Parts: sequence; C-alpha cells; structure tokens
Amino acid sequence: MQFTVAIDGPAAAGKGTIGRALAAQFGFAHLDTGLLYRAVGAKGGDPVLAAKSLTADDLTRDDLRSMAAGEAASRVAVHPQVRAALLQFQRAFARRMGGAVLDGRDIGTVICPEAEVKLFVTASADVRAHRRWLELGGDEGQILADVIARDERDIGRSDAPLRAADDAITLDTSALTVEAALARAVAAVQAKLPRRLG
Ligand code: CDP
Repeated sequence: MQFTVAIDGPAAAGKGTIGRALAAQFGFAHLDTGLLYRAVGAKGGDPVLAAKSLTADDLTRDDLRSMAAGEAASRVAVHPQVRAALLQFQRAFARRMGGAVLDGRDIGTVICPEAEVKLFVTASADVRAHRRWLELGGDEGQILADVIARDERDIGRSDAPLRAADDAITLDTSALTVEAALARAVAAVQAKLPRRLG
C-alpha cells in the first residue's frame, strides 16, 4: 500500500514530534526532510555539490539540530539546484510501499502533491521559540528573532516556498498539548486510511 502523510509548517512547530508519533502508531516510515537541508548546510562549500553528494553518514552528524545548522539549512534551501538534487530521494520515499510520513516545508505542495493526508502544523512564533528554547537552551529572545528570520526566508523564497497546500488540514498547536495535537493528527490519518487498516 502507498500512503503518504505530508506534514509542513514553520520552524519548531512540532512537525517532527507529530511525524514520529504518527509513523510509530501506523507502522509507516518517517523522513525528517529538514535534516537533508541541515546536512547540506553543515557540509559547507558549494551547496549544490554538497546536495548531489549527500550520504547517509552526513545525516548522522551530532550538530545538525543546532540553531546555527537550521540557519545554514534555510540559506542553502533557497537554491533551486539544491532542492532539485534532493527531490527524487524524497519522492521515492513518499511513495514507498508500506506508508510514509515526511515533514518539511514543501511536502504537500511540491514533493508529494498526491499525499493522502496533508497537515500544516503551526503555532505562534512566541510559542515556537519557547519550545525550541526548552529543547536547546540559550537566549530565548535571540531564538525568537532567529525563528522569525528563518520563517521569512522560507516563506519568501521563489522556489518551493513554505505554504499550506490548498487541501491541507491546519493544526494550530499554540494552545494544544502534544497529546491533543497528536489525537487530531491521528484522526486525520484514520479518516483517509483504507477501511481494513483504519
Ligand atoms: O526543525 P525546524 O522546523 O526548525 O527546521 P527543519 O524542518 O529541520 O528545517 C530546516 C530548514 O531547512 C528550514 O528552515 C528550511 O529552510 C529548510 N527546509 C526546506 O526548505 N524544505 C524542507 N522540506 C525541509 C526543510
């Protein structure tokens, strides 16, 4: 069975938490596509060459979750050739047999417009910055400024900008617990699963 759950949304909205939990619950594979862009940014040098030569090993660096790696990711992510180099892998992952959950910025719009379920996970910038601060520590005001700057770059780029697909379900998690947000995501998947699996 091919079944794709596309999760898009701004920085630190909780896409990864929801994506991992959905994948575990339904037995689907999960791909955090932000990690691909983080790894390209972290490699340094020519980003197009870095994207074309990306290996599984590059994804295991332990500094990929930092704010600096997120910033570097969003800078390389504006290059159409970087995005093109990463496209086929993501598309094949999305349509693999057994079901897949992908989270990122352009999954429901560009990578897999035919996804069975599209979620746009968001929250206010303050809430997102606070969550990231809980995760990484540091200066919360600076994290807020970084998150806002990164969102602006992701929304404003001309190739595959961050936006909700027309048929996406928006999940604003500003005032939701992880459990409540997850319950809504699970319900959205169950509503679209073939009957014998739902
Ligand atoms: O975890 P967080 O939401 O902060 O970021 P991420 O999902 O790891 O993505 C890091 C950066 O990679 C984003 O700010 C985007 O610029 C870029 N990205 C993208 O352009 N397209 C994707 N499908 C995923 C990430």
